[in-house]
Amino acid sequence: MDVLEAIFTRRSIRRFTGQPVAEEDLKTILRAGFQAPSAHNYQPWGFVIVRDKNTIESIAQFHPYAKMLPQAGCGIVVCGDKEKQEMTGFLVADCSAAIQNMLLAAHGLGLGAVWCGLYPVSELTKATAKILSLPSSIVPVGMVVVGHKNEQKKPVDRYDESKVHFEQW
Ligand SMILES: Cc1cc2nc3c(=O)[nH]c(=O)nc-3n(C[C@H](O)[C@H](O)[C@H](O)COP(=O)(O)O)c2cc1C
Repeated sequence: MDVLEAIFTRRSIRRFTGQPVAEEDLKTILRAGFQAPSAHNYQPWGFVIVRDKNTIESIAQFHPYAKMLPQAGCGIVVCGDKEKQEMTGFLVADCSAAIQNMLLAAHGLGLGAVWCGLYPVSELTKATAKILSLPSSIVPVGMVVVGHKNEQKKPVDRYDESKVHFEQW
């Protein structure tokens, strides 16, 4: 799949078969995250792979929109390091770029994935930090839930001419 096909056909997948993600595919998805652009090239991210059943169940319990996590069987929590980039700087943008790369990589591998938001919802970041024993300098920005698809979604064309402005708004 080329990059444009991946961008135009990726959808959020929330139904999974439960088949585990191969280690090699997980590594490829992580490598895609690491390849993201970041302000000053600080690469202020860290990734926590969550596959333990108890941890997965706990996250699914407190996160109202991550109920698909147990069925997927794998979550990658993308964290920002405040010692490498300020919270008020580009930390969230950098981690978000990594997340998008990972979603596209998962799609390119034929897997399904969905971005589950964490930051800036304080109840979610606090609960995630506690369960994953994150140091105080580490902020969980979002979680990529990934697994084998159990649904097919059609691409949608969201191009909207009314939102495009040339030279001035
Ligand atoms: C910052 C952010 C947070 C999101 N959080 C969730 C979430 O918690 N749970 C979920 O199922 N989808 C979540 N999504 C996925 C969006 O719902 C999805 O991208 C959007 O509906 C468009 O659909 P598509 O991804 O299939 O194109 C999130 C997306 C973003 C960018």
